[in-house]
Amino acid sequence: MLISTSILSIKDNLNEKIEKLNKSNTDYIHLDIMDNIFVPNYSDFSNITNMTKLLDVHLMVEDVYKYIDIYSKLNPIYITFHYEINENKNNVINYIKNKNIKIGLSIKPNTKIKEIIPYLDKIDLVLIMSVEPGYGGQKFIESSFEKIEQLNEIRKNKKYNFVIEVDGGINEKISAKLKNEVDILVAGTFITNEIDFDKQIALLKGNT
Ligand code: DX5
Ligand code: ZN
Repeated sequence: MLISTSILSIKDNLNEKIEKLNKSNTDYIHLDIMDNIFVPNYSDFSNITNMTKLLDVHLMVEDVYKYIDIYSKLNPIYITFHYEINENKNNVINYIKNKNIKIGLSIKPNTKIKEIIPYLDKIDLVLIMSVEPGYGGQKFIESSFEKIEQLNEIRKNKKYNFVIEVDGGINEKISAKLKNEVDILVAGTFITNEIDFDKQIALLKGNT
């Protein structure tokens, strides 16, 4: 299982903490992009130049094309957008694909897995939100376990090759339960609120 560290909750010394993350065992840096329209919060990491880890961009925005153009310039491995936006999903999928970036599709806690079935053969990653998007530091929503199980069943039966990523409220207890269920775990405050990032990452990977 890979770890993607969200930097959303870093409140001070951002560049110094990114340098620390670059030297840490995190597999990806997770950039939470918010437009204060799709979610009641705003964030912008487009001018950060010192990230050397693979970038996992999570767009919580309505005008998705604008932000795909902005963040594709950082050469991320993934750009993930939300199913709930008012855009034709296939057009957005093709737009990201044409930039040679892997495509992620995210669903909010109240969105059912069945809604994204039509897209599963076209995308590289499904991001299951285990908190209501907008803020770090929230509590994991327990009903996410059932959605993860359901998605795993679908993936097994249909031989899809998307990866499963879960994001929000992740701590050591939750990661132990998800160890064999998901491919990537996003964690923000569990890692960046502490001094020793590698210690927190090892706790999540279960190899302490
Ligand atoms: C919330 C973001 C998450 C969040 C994770 O909208 O998508 O990535 O920053 O932070 P924690 O791990 O603190 O819940
Ligand atoms: Zn996120």
